[in-house]
Amino acid sequence: MASLEIEGGVRLKGQVPSSPAKNAALPALVASLLTAEPVVLENLPALADVRTISQLLERLGAELSQEPDGATRVQVRQVKSHEAPYELVSTMRASVLVLGPLLARTGLARVALPGGCAIGLRPIDQHLKGLKRLGADIGIQNGYVEARSSRFKGCRMTLDLVTVTGTENLMMAAVLAEGTTVIENAAREPEVVDLARLLEAMGARIEGAGTERIEILGVPELGGCRHRVIPDRIETGTLLVAGAITGGDVTVTNAAPRNLSALLAKLEEAGALLEVGEDWVRCRGPERPSPTDVITSPFPGFPTDMQAQVMSLLGLADGLSRITETIFENRFMHAAELNRMGARIEIDGATALVQGVSHYQGAPVMATDLRASASLVLAGLAAKGRTEVSRVYHLDRGYERLEAKLQALGARIRRIP
Ligand code: EPZ
Repeated sequence: MASLEIEGGVRLKGQVPSSPAKNAALPALVASLLTAEPVVLENLPALADVRTISQLLERLGAELSQEPDGATRVQVRQVKSHEAPYELVSTMRASVLVLGPLLARTGLARVALPGGCAIGLRPIDQHLKGLKRLGADIGIQNGYVEARSSRFKGCRMTLDLVTVTGTENLMMAAVLAEGTTVIENAAREPEVVDLARLLEAMGARIEGAGTERIEILGVPELGGCRHRVIPDRIETGTLLVAGAITGGDVTVTNAAPRNLSALLAKLEEAGALLEVGEDWVRCRGPERPSPTDVITSPFPGFPTDMQAQVMSLLGLADGLSRITETIFENRFMHAAELNRMGARIEIDGATALVQGVSHYQGAPVMATDLRASASLVLAGLAAKGRTEVSRVYHLDRGYERLEAKLQALGARIRRIP
């Protein structure tokens, strides 16, 4: 397994572009199941998770090809299989997104229940509850969701909790339903809005994406379209923290700052100097971060996917910070690894008490999940000495050539096979 070796202590300087968003690319690819016509996605990021969902779609009958301009053309002329097998779903839970579209297109779906993952149980009860409300018969056999339905009937539904892929799954299920569907307590994430834009380009009728109430007027069929995926706000945030934690001066271009306001506010509270443009953000790090408190919450609150990265930054602050994780029940595993680098972090239930230290020492550390691995890379960039982050396959799921981008900013980082 590859690992990343980092010689810390370099103040990162320069400009780097953000990649397209993983969590917008995945639902965008899955939406192609809803039509027999081609969907052309102009800017998919080169990520492991994108490759995984593409393999799944091919099994279901999709033909994928690269256009000369680099765009990806995906077309499901006919659904050949209705099954998302365990070996794929267990490696990437976003595979459950095929449930809604498969049922909307063919009335049949057999999708492995995603197991838990490192950060929590992550059940899909809200997805299944909504699909039942739309008219699906759903059973669970041998670890699989077995679902069938005639044409969905539009309905009102209220989600018990905010779920991003739950909202996306149900929106894709409802676009071909007979009549109108209203989803209350919907997720407001930018990736949900981006999916709604794509579905509208395919002919769907959707109001209220980005608010907690989404109204979908079902249409008889959808067509193909061309679509550009939004920038990755989490990768952008990670690169900005790299500038802040090294006391550097980093500008991230091709970004969508309006999707990052909660993170930008926290970086300023921690002492970073920010300049925000239309599609770029400049971050100059403080000599030493100031402590501040963080509470994760659904968009537009502070994103849980940035919690680990900001913990690395606040671990060097001159005082105590409290970080409360309200979305996932086990998303502090990076804390133990940061403590091995000299951090002083105590976990008290859903809150991490981060007593800042003056510096980290480089150490061999192990990644446990996608964003935890990013937080260890960030700590390594700031640490005195050498850090080796193992199991970087976690990182490759959600970051496109992160070490190349960091090298371009002056970091002494290299991948060891
Ligand atoms: C999406 O996951 C993202 N993944 C996650 O990003 C992100 O952390 C998460 O939203 C929260 O923002 C993709 O978009 C592919 P949820 P998702 O359903 O949709 C509970 C990353 O790092 N819940 O919003 O799976 C669930 O257990 C990944 O890129 C239920 O109880 O998250 C969790 O505690 C990690 N029942 C909370 O809700 C359900 O039916 C939020 O989960 C659904 C969710």
